[in-house]
Amino acid sequence: MKYLVTGATGQLGGLVVKHLLDRVAASDIAVSVRSPEKASGLTALGVDVRHGDFDDLALTTAAFRGVETVLIISAEADNATRIRQHRTAIDAAKAAGVGHVTYTSVVDPRPDSAFTYAAIHADTEQYLAASGLKYTVLRNSFYADLLLAGVPHALETGDYAAPAGQGRITYVPRNELALAAASVLANPADHVNKTYNLTGAKAVSYDEIAAMIASITGKEIRYVDLPPAVYSDILKSFGLPEHGVTAIVGLYEAARAGDYEPVSTDLATLLGRQPQSVQDFLTGALRN
Ligand SMILES: NC(=O)c1ccc[n+]([C@@H]2O[C@H](COP(=O)([O-])OP(=O)(O)OC[C@H]3O[C@@H](n4cnc5c(N)ncnc54)[C@H](OP(=O)(O)O)[C@@H]3O)[C@@H](O)[C@H]2O)c1
Repeated sequence: MKYLVTGATGQLGGLVVKHLLDRVAASDIAVSVRSPEKASGLTALGVDVRHGDFDDLALTTAAFRGVETVLIISAEADNATRIRQHRTAIDAAKAAGVGHVTYTSVVDPRPDSAFTYAAIHADTEQYLAASGLKYTVLRNSFYADLLLAGVPHALETGDYAAPAGQGRITYVPRNELALAAASVLANPADHVNKTYNLTGAKAVSYDEIAAMIASITGKEIRYVDLPPAVYSDILKSFGLPEHGVTAIVGLYEAARAGDYEPVSTDLATLLGRQPQSVQDFLTGALRN
């Protein structure tokens, strides 16, 4: 077995497997998922569906056995849990004799970032680099797909709200990141011990995003710069866990500080073309 993708029942992992199937034989692909029954569609395509969970070293080691290269997709939990889970996944890769691990990190992964989840990725990157395994780090920027969440409210009220100030973010469609991950995974030898900053081709402000949504939908929509405390209360009212609220409010604080403005050409290099713009992504998603 050559390639294994974790989190294949998630959104990014599902897209990576889809694009990997366009590049290599299904019989060379395995996935490691927490609920194999959710991956029956992949079994039907000839993908080897294995049971793995980053909370279980022995299970994940068994899932990774006999595989040449693994894509570890970062999990979803509080910082201490996720740091432990990602270390377990790397330990499992080592114990299973995997040759090369690719990991989905985040842009600007600093332990002291206002975006508190960045500290998880900083730890995982460091742990992976120290593991002795061949590795590739994909520092993903933020999914343009996330921008759709505020659209129904904007269409109803005319307000597109976020605590982003004039901060700009290099949003990029999740699918573009999945294409890049699939191309790295299919040719790992070309990417040994490389770290890529996978950003959109341009950083966009929320004024610009609101204007795009307005022009695509033909509705009058303006950006409302929410106070972080108000935004925090809104997220809490949706039932988000405390660590998620802190991280998302922190993401916007980091954006206001300019942390997510730097543009890299790494994604264009991996894709062999410019990544889809936020404008084109929103047009595709909202005009149907
Ligand atoms: N760049 C961004 O804008 C952005 C935004 C949100 C999140 N993220 C990060 O990127 C990752 C992928 O994004 P996504 O949109 O695909 O998220 P997603 O749809 O929530 O998928 C997350 C995947 O992680 C798996 N997972 C969670 N805990 C695990 C564990 N203990 N062991 C093994 N797998 C585990 C989940 O498994 P199940 O399918 O069994 O639930 C799921 O498949 C997220 O998990 C998060 O770390 C990035």
